[in-house]
Amino acid sequence: MSESEIGQASADFVVVANRLPVDLDRGSDGTQRWTASPGGLVSALEPFLRSRKGAWVGWPGVPGVDVDPFSDEGMVLYPVTLTAEDVRDYYEGFSNATLWPLYHDVVERPVFDRSWWESYVKVNRRFAEASAKVAADGATVWVQDYQLQLVPSMLRELRPDLRIGFFLHIPFPPVELFMQLPWRAEIVRGLIGADLVGFHRPGGAQNFLWLARTLVGLEPSRGAVGVRSRPGMMQVGNRTVRVGAFPISIDAAGLDSLARGKDVIERAAQVRRDLGNPKTVLLGVDRLDYTKGIDLRLQALHELLHEGRVQPEDVTFVQLATPSRERVEHYQRMRSEIEQMVGRINGEFARVGHPVVHYLHQSVSRTELAAFYSAADVMVVTPLRDGMNLVCKEYVACRHDLGGSLVLSEFAGAAAELTSAFLVNPHDLDGVKNALEAAITLDPAEGRRRMRALRRQVLTHDVDRWARSFLEALGSEPAA
Ligand code: ADP
Ligand code: G6P
Repeated sequence: MSESEIGQASADFVVVANRLPVDLDRGSDGTQRWTASPGGLVSALEPFLRSRKGAWVGWPGVPGVDVDPFSDEGMVLYPVTLTAEDVRDYYEGFSNATLWPLYHDVVERPVFDRSWWESYVKVNRRFAEASAKVAADGATVWVQDYQLQLVPSMLRELRPDLRIGFFLHIPFPPVELFMQLPWRAEIVRGLIGADLVGFHRPGGAQNFLWLARTLVGLEPSRGAVGVRSRPGMMQVGNRTVRVGAFPISIDAAGLDSLARGKDVIERAAQVRRDLGNPKTVLLGVDRLDYTKGIDLRLQALHELLHEGRVQPEDVTFVQLATPSRERVEHYQRMRSEIEQMVGRINGEFARVGHPVVHYLHQSVSRTELAAFYSAADVMVVTPLRDGMNLVCKEYVACRHDLGGSLVLSEFAGAAAELTSAFLVNPHDLDGVKNALEAAITLDPAEGRRRMRALRRQVLTHDVDRWARSFLEALGSEPAA
């Protein structure tokens, strides 16, 4: 696309998300570079949008910078500016200290602050206006996630010609919790501006239909919503709004082939050597978020070591944790708790040169991540609540050798698909310990059987299938 076209309303397919797929990273010496943005939304959507050559409207990840639209390997990126106050009130405040904990089962107490809500409305309007400028006549605009729930209605007012989809990447809460939100009706009205509202699980869709009836007085269909089938429907004025379940996934073939490459195989062997060739490598990979249950898995490991059920010389636990939302208080508290626990376990059980827990508060590259997945005997994924969780699917996609086993929380959306994992209730510490022990001592033939079943699921349900099924239901893609 030429530079002059970038500035015009020319895109037939537009993704709108709080973040662009790349973050502007400014060095202390004034240099600037773009790095990959954190989180599952970007991991999932970026490969899809690149292949589609679409436009992406989003924030470049730093406050107060104005960046012109630019193209990036097949995508055109349209930056939206957030001031330092917007970041504090709309992003850290309403999005991540109100909606995030409320939608994740109130694992932490949500804060209800009226000035944060005002900022949320104002910034959602800015995203709607930016999207209205970018979209061509009759274009499809796909709005993403909890930060932008008012955009569908705001955009429809500005541009009634558009086909608008909305997808929520995090869980949609039980109605009793949603009803706590002082702005509950406004959020539901914001979402029904879309032609299709998508959730990971049928339960979320069902909850939303109930709220649309109760809070807005609509009359939704009554049948059970299926996975990628039988969406709920309701009439909003002269439009039909559909509500469905579309479990998201990963670029499974891409990761599978990355993990088969010589570089990754060699690096995985090197990782094991660097760790001192322990019998068992346990791995956790998460954004450092209190919903992920990193503290629980450390506690389970601590107890197993104490009880002598695992030996410190046999087991090494590697926790990779991407820094996240570091100015939000909930996150600061959790980080110091986790770091204390790591110190405690190593203090009690490490030997010089051989820590039991390796904790990296860092983001690693895709290749490095694939090497860690390939090197790990047991992948530990224990969120208290997670919309989907892509990490567990990534692990499975990397295990073409049919090695490794997966311990997975029942409260991740992925648990409904990955039934051959060791499924655990993360609130039941004894259950987590038993599952870890079972995964560590698993018979290799049984391990291969389980991994084969997991791979069948992940490789046949990739992100492309997710996107196609959503866009077909939205009516912007011919049915397969
Ligand atoms: P969330 O979207 O809540 O962060 P997901 O599990 O769905 O959780 O997605 C997390 C994404 O971030 C995955 O694609 C994972 O590979 C990536 N990721 C998590 N931790 C790291 C890390 N330390 N380094 C690099 N990538 C990471
Ligand atoms: C989750 C959310 C995304 C978010 C990502 C990273 O995946 O669903 O919307 O972008 O976490 O969080 P952050 O606050 O850094 O954008």
